[in-house]
Amino acid sequence: MMAVVNRKFYVCRCFFTHNYFVEKFNLHLTYDGTGKLEPTTEQILLDRGASDEDVAGVLLTLRRERERRENLGGKITDRTLQVSQQYVKLHPYLYKIKDEFFSPKFLEIVEYSKSDEANQSKLISMLSKTKCDHVWSLPVFTDKFCDDFVEEITNFEKSICEKGRPNTMNNYGILLNELGFDELFFNEFRRKYISPVVKILYPEWFGLGLDSHKVFTVKYKHGEDLGLAYHYDNAEVTLNVCLGKQFEGGELYFGGMRTEPIDLLHTKPVLHNKSYGILHRGQHLHGAMGIDGTSERHNIIMWMRSSSVRNKLCPMCDDEPQLVVQSGFGDGFTQDGPRFCALT
Ligand SMILES: [Fe+2]
Ligand SMILES: [Zn+2]
Repeated sequence: MMAVVNRKFYVCRCFFTHNYFVEKFNLHLTYDGTGKLEPTTEQILLDRGASDEDVAGVLLTLRRERERRENLGGKITDRTLQVSQQYVKLHPYLYKIKDEFFSPKFLEIVEYSKSDEANQSKLISMLSKTKCDHVWSLPVFTDKFCDDFVEEITNFEKSICEKGRPNTMNNYGILLNELGFDELFFNEFRRKYISPVVKILYPEWFGLGLDSHKVFTVKYKHGEDLGLAYHYDNAEVTLNVCLGKQFEGGELYFGGMRTEPIDLLHTKPVLHNKSYGILHRGQHLHGAMGIDGTSERHNIIMWMRSSSVRNKLCPMCDDEPQLVVQSGFGDGFTQDGPRFCALT
């Protein structure tokens, strides 16, 4: 067996041009970076009743977001360095994965998935069914882990360190790789804990292996983000774990896959429970309802990627990915072709 070291990961060129989320109009737009709106984009906005001022505001948002994306690689490096030098961890023990962080039931599910006799129907019997096909719920962490993790990210949020945000839809989340959680936590978690489960549950999305991920927190609170518009993830499989605190409402809702016609009338709710994770296919359309009253909820979102699957088709532009190198895991694309050997 040969380990793959220093593999390069890439983003697709569409990262710079596609999927600009404009909250006011609940739209994902494209922007070619020319400093002007594309005529079709302007028409879409006018059809939605946008004023001249709105159109100018959207253009400004797109230009700023484009700039952010173009400078992202360097920014990630700068922020990660700043965090490693200046941030004082509240609970340092959290940064190195241990079995004791997990619910005994989760460890049982992982152990079963690794066993020679593991099969899909028995694995499914160990998970909780949801109202939506192919969406599963399972206990993941202990309550203590969840509480300490929320304290850690709240502590980081108060620090002077510059924070990168997960994407244009989440304004109050934290990128856990920049906080230093990848090396001894989520890389191990992906390889040794969740990969065996995903391999059996979603083999067509697992491909030759989950070889990268993007993991971040999201926070829903009044005065900040309340819910999340209908979308799909830039991932083959997503694990969404609820950490608490107190919340009412805020359930997820799922519809069809992104390749199917959008039907918002027949979505199905899936409830969040503290310390439980929801596993779903990244391209399964979903959103989060608004939380109620004085609620506050934190979730860990792990977007898991299989380069052997996404190298064939970029889910964000529906085309063969045009690779642009980026630091870290990029968006999980690699140069590996059909002879790719997934030994990560
Ligand atoms: Fe999502
Ligand atoms: Zn693309």
